Amino acid sequence: MESNNLQKRDGFGSKLGIIAAAAGSAIGLGNIWKFPYITGENGGAAFIIVYLICIALIGFPVMLSEFIIGRRAQKNAIGSFKKLAPGTPWFLTGWMGVVAAFFILAFYGVVAGWCLDYIVKAITNSFAGQTTEQIGNAFTGLISNPWQPVIWQIIFMALTAFIVLAGVKDGIEKYAKILMPLLLGIIIILDIRAITLPGSGAGLAFLFKPDFSKLSAQGVLTALGHAFFSLSLGMGTMITYGSYIQKKENLADTAIQVTIADTLIALLAGVAIFPAVFAFGIEPGAGPGLVFVTLPNVFQQMPGGYFFGLLFFILLTVAALTSSISILEVVVAYVVEDMNINRKKAAVVAALLITILGIPCSLAMGPMANIKLLGGRNFFDTLDYIASNWLLPLGGLFISIFVGWILGKENVEDEVTCGGVKISYLPFFMFLARFIAPIAIAIVFLNGIGVLKF
Ligand code: PHE
Repeated sequence: MESNNLQKRDGFGSKLGIIAAAAGSAIGLGNIWKFPYITGENGGAAFIIVYLICIALIGFPVMLSEFIIGRRAQKNAIGSFKKLAPGTPWFLTGWMGVVAAFFILAFYGVVAGWCLDYIVKAITNSFAGQTTEQIGNAFTGLISNPWQPVIWQIIFMALTAFIVLAGVKDGIEKYAKILMPLLLGIIIILDIRAITLPGSGAGLAFLFKPDFSKLSAQGVLTALGHAFFSLSLGMGTMITYGSYIQKKENLADTAIQVTIADTLIALLAGVAIFPAVFAFGIEPGAGPGLVFVTLPNVFQQMPGGYFFGLLFFILLTVAALTSSISILEVVVAYVVEDMNINRKKAAVVAALLITILGIPCSLAMGPMANIKLLGGRNFFDTLDYIASNWLLPLGGLFISIFVGWILGKENVEDEVTCGGVKISYLPFFMFLARFIAPIAIAIVFLNGIGVLKF
């Protein structure tokens, strides 16, 4: 019986829980590690404006589309397509998501492991009195070490599995409701510290005063690609989470709130980082090493730097954890529902397999540095490239086409307006899902695989 099935299915218990879990998924290393450094590399404010446009016109409709698919079907990423479009190849979109989950979590767990190591470095005050060069060497030393980052990665993956195996309500939602307020509190403290530093104005100007001459076509594409990754789109995370949202909740509002929360935290991360970077006269375009090399440098010069440095690396780890659980859940939800394996076993085995895939990602910075795969990329970059440039955009493309063209306007309307709420911007959403999102994603995808060259 349908109602029995619904009752048995685990799900989010409260509105706050939904927002915490979904925003927790979206807010991650993408916001705090990647967004600041790509903003730095692409000239600051002008890049941010383009990013905001991408979030509103492409990110939002794809997120709402994923919620609609998941809640309509009450199933995992693969099962949803099987249920809504039986006998068609649409379920392959879900499969791409599961593969993307394996690839992304494999390298995500490695970077999250570095964050754990940096919490220890911060506690033991190991950057005190070091030169910029020494701080840089400590980072290279860590990531190229054959076993240390692997141990951290295993610890991080064990934490992830521990939360996921406890269930949706008693694991994911429970921890998100604890960790997300913690994250918000830490980032606000760091922001206040950063903007009260003498000389912080230059950093704020860099973030908020646009100079469009610094923006390249490549920068525009980076912004769109990052909007996708940052909002956890294109691999069924939000399909899976959407299937746990109660029917009485307003999906459109939820999608807007999660999108705004993710964007706000990315901006707050920028505000925590750039004023400090400029106040100490350091180059903003440091790339991936920005938070692991530039920031420890800043913290050791800043009054109270010990405390703020420690808070910062706890922040990074918390953000990574609430994202990694959502990635693992994509796999676990499928295995539990469609392969009839219990949740504990599914979570442990999936986390184990992903950790094993992650080990060569970690070693790619050290002993396996000479092993080149796709286009001369090492193992880490190859997984990142396939997931970010192929699987996520293709997934997002198919998801928006599915909701815009296949699912049917009545079904979409019925799902979004559950409980009779009127959504005035529904036609606008449909327009975005049918035309704007697929076209824009197709352009990014073709550029990403080198067919179009910008
Ligand atoms: N959105 C997460 C971040 O910004 C990463 C992520 C990608 C999570 C895809 C789930 C799915 O770090």
